[in-house]
Amino acid sequence: MKFLVINGSNLKLLGIREPEIYGKRTYDDLVGMIKEHAAEKGVEVSFFQSNHEGDLVDAIGQAYYDKIDGIIINPGAYTHTSIAILDAVKAVRIPTVEVHISDVDAREEFRQVSYIRLAAVKTITGQGFDGYNTAMDFLISYLGEKH
Ligand code: DQA
Repeated sequence: MKFLVINGSNLKLLGIREPEIYGKRTYDDLVGMIKEHAAEKGVEVSFFQSNHEGDLVDAIGQAYYDKIDGIIINPGAYTHTSIAILDAVKAVRIPTVEVHISDVDAREEFRQVSYIRLAAVKTITGQGFDGYNTAMDFLISYLGEKH
C-alpha cells in the first residue's frame, strides 16, 4: 500500500506556530513519526507540503498517476476555503482522510466549515500528531476491506 501525506499552509512552521495549539514538535518530527509508523505497518509513505493552494491541487492530481492508494491530508487553512482541493480529491477518487491537529470544531466558527470533508472517507481532529497515524490505520483497514 502506498500512502501520501499532504500538509498545507503553515504546517512547515510546526514547533514555531502557536505551540499552545499545535505543540512544540516540528514538521520534521511529524514526518519522522509517520515514517516510523508506516515502517511498523509495512506500508510505503511519501510526503508533500506546500503553502500554495494550486500546488496542493497538483499533488493530489499527481497521486493518481503515482498510483497512491490513500491520501492523508491536512490542508491547513485551505480546509475552510478551497473548493479546488475538494474537487481534486473527487477527481482522483483516492480514499482520503482529513486530519487536523487541533479540534477545529471547538474553535472559531470559520474553522467549523470544511470543504474537503465532503469528499473525505474520514475526518480526524484534535488528536495532535497522533491523528496522522490514526488516519493511516483507518486507511489500512478501509483498503483492506477492498472498497
Ligand atoms: C489545522 C486547523 C486549521 O484551522 C488551521 O488553519 C491550520 C491547522 C489543524 O491542523 O488543526 O493551519 O488544520
